[in-house]
Amino acid sequence: MTNVEMVNTDRQIKPTGMTGMAGGGFYNANSAPQWAQIAAVLPWLEDAITELPFAEGTSAITFADFGCSEGRNSISVMHKLLARAMDHTDRPFLTLHSDLPTNDYSKLFLGLRPDGKSAFDGERVSSAAVGGSMYDRLLPPQSVHVATTFNSIGYLSERPLDLLPGYILPNGPSKIRGNGYITDSESETFARHAEADMAAFLTARSKELVPGGKLMVQVFGCVDDIRTCDGLFDLLNDAVRAHVDRGDIPSQVYEKYYQPVYFRTLDELIAPLKNPVYELSHLYSLDRTEAYEVPVPFVEAYKQDGDLDRYAASFVNFFRAFTQAALTSSLPDTPSKTDLVNQIYQTADTLLKANPEVYPFRNMSVAMLLTRK
Ligand SMILES: C[S@@+](CC[C@H](N)C(=O)[O-])C[C@H]1O[C@@H](n2cnc3c(N)ncnc32)[C@H](O)[C@@H]1O
Repeated sequence: MTNVEMVNTDRQIKPTGMTGMAGGGFYNANSAPQWAQIAAVLPWLEDAITELPFAEGTSAITFADFGCSEGRNSISVMHKLLARAMDHTDRPFLTLHSDLPTNDYSKLFLGLRPDGKSAFDGERVSSAAVGGSMYDRLLPPQSVHVATTFNSIGYLSERPLDLLPGYILPNGPSKIRGNGYITDSESETFARHAEADMAAFLTARSKELVPGGKLMVQVFGCVDDIRTCDGLFDLLNDAVRAHVDRGDIPSQVYEKYYQPVYFRTLDELIAPLKNPVYELSHLYSLDRTEAYEVPVPFVEAYKQDGDLDRYAASFVNFFRAFTQAALTSSLPDTPSKTDLVNQIYQTADTLLKANPEVYPFRNMSVAMLLTRK
């Protein structure tokens, strides 16, 4: 395998039409909050690196990250893991960075080989990207020593409902804002789908991991009554609805549009491991779990300097990076579609500046570290 190479596997790609992040460097530039979430729990894995079965086998020690997006955070994760692992073995290393086939990988490849040389120790570390859904098996059996996924497992494998007429996110609006509704039956459908997705992910990784391999799963979520989605999606919902009211978006389009993302509690993250239906409990031991909050850099800056323009720009760019693709694909194809998308995010900026207190953003996460038995 060359140092950086696209790998196509023979697994079945489901025609879900699921889309990824805004590309062209936009996700990389607006993902500092995600790094704060990762950095809070990555030390669990760094501390567990010495437990890997380095002595068994001679092939490359392989670290695979699922949902790598444009790669800035994924490459930083690998830097940290390699720094801990390289002294414990003479074996070569392989870093694998995986995301949907529709992901924009161009910045990942540039990040992996800045100035034409490996971002890591080029003598011992090779890197590759794998396009495919993380809910499928993507890598050879028993070939992975560490698998990670950060801020990605909330993205559903497909849209379980065609319509979601009351709001733009399966979790529904915040209690404070209450600008929409989700029925109990809709809520149940999404919760069940998210659980099956988590089980599919754990099953796929169980086949790829070596015995003794580590799996870290972290994702945005809900902790007690605080949910990462609240301010962000209330604001996007208000902005989209403003354009429905203006006649720019037909109400049937609004009823069909939703972001196929589910925000889990810690119990929901762990539930598939305990549910006998999925037959996972004999495959993994659960080493550590946590539900936690990290400060958001642009929220903290706003508290210090009160610069509302800068706060609103950072806030809107942050959620634009992970909502724009699904929003754009749900709008009718017209010559003015790009303008309309720009206007929706501009409206979000205006609404946020008019009432910043209505759209609070708290960055909550849930995480678990597992060992493949
Ligand atoms: C918010 S980004 C997280 C990127 C990075 N891990 C981080 O924490 O900054 C979520 C990523 O998950 C990817 N994703 C969504 N569904 C996926 C799937 N079924 N398989 C693999 N990746 C998926 C998206 O394309 C996107 O790049």
